[in-house]
Amino acid sequence: MGDPHPTTPSPTQTPTPTAPTLRAQALTRTFGRGAKALTALGPVDLDIAPGEFTCIVGPSGCGKSTLLRIAAGLLLPSAGELSIRAASPRPAAMIFQDYGIYDWKTVLANVRFGLDIQRVPRKEADARARDWLARMGLSEFADAYPAALSGGMRQRVAIARALAVEPEVLLMDEPFAALDAQLRTILQDELLDLTQTTRTTTLFITHSLEEAIVLGDRVLVMSARPGRIIAEHRPPFPRPRTGDVRSTPEFTALKSELWELLRGEVRREVIPA
Ligand SMILES: Nc1ncnc2c1ncn2[C@@H]1O[C@H](COP(=O)(O)OP(=O)(O)OP(=O)(O)O)[C@@H](O)[C@H]1O
Ligand SMILES: [Mg+2]
Repeated sequence: MGDPHPTTPSPTQTPTPTAPTLRAQALTRTFGRGAKALTALGPVDLDIAPGEFTCIVGPSGCGKSTLLRIAAGLLLPSAGELSIRAASPRPAAMIFQDYGIYDWKTVLANVRFGLDIQRVPRKEADARARDWLARMGLSEFADAYPAALSGGMRQRVAIARALAVEPEVLLMDEPFAALDAQLRTILQDELLDLTQTTRTTTLFITHSLEEAIVLGDRVLVMSARPGRIIAEHRPPFPRPRTGDVRSTPEFTALKSELWELLRGEVRREVIPA
């Protein structure tokens, strides 16, 4: 391809393209071999800019958790690649769909876990962990073990643990799915507030279209398995945004539009052609 602008612009005019924080290129993942091989994901191409909050919705079993596990380095791709480019040595933090908290550690020790790995001094780590427990309404359970908590409380412990390390990249797999509707709304608003303040680059998986629209700079829709990205929408709400966008006509319109897209994919997953 020829260069249509052969003159070199001065350095001040040169737009500095921001390198993506997360980039997936022709990413696919297959499980099993031979006749039993199942392609769960891809090919997926995806760039997430620094500070961007990207939500993914898609039918059950389309490979969303597989994508997130590859991003977290817990699973290797079968083909293609995924890279995370972070400016600081702070790690990416992941919140799992099934909580992923340790039953043999107290609630406080669970929340402090990532800080211990980072060798944050004990006193500071305790203070930060307690601060996050307070924000999640769990202060009085600091010394309890997870077995004594409800599902929603366990999930809040997992959220506190991930956020306590103040990660540059946050990977969240349906983090609010087990919570009741009221708590879910409160935590969505809290996450909005937090990520808008910290500009944490976030990849967020959800089954809830409302959640994706409230939180996301972008909402990506995945196809039935093998999951590919079939649509991208940008909720038309400027930042900083609050939960009030839920009651706007634009919100309802986008939700209907996304559901039209998703409905076909959910049907394909349930009733394969
Ligand atoms: N370790 C594994 N071994 C074999 N198959 C797997 C493994 N992990 C996932 N799969 C299969 O890959 C497909 C995608 O699974 P994945 O968990 O990524 O879906 P998902 O989109 O997260 O679904 P859900 O919305 O129900 O959480 C499924 O068919 C699943 O059975
Ligand atoms: Mg999943």
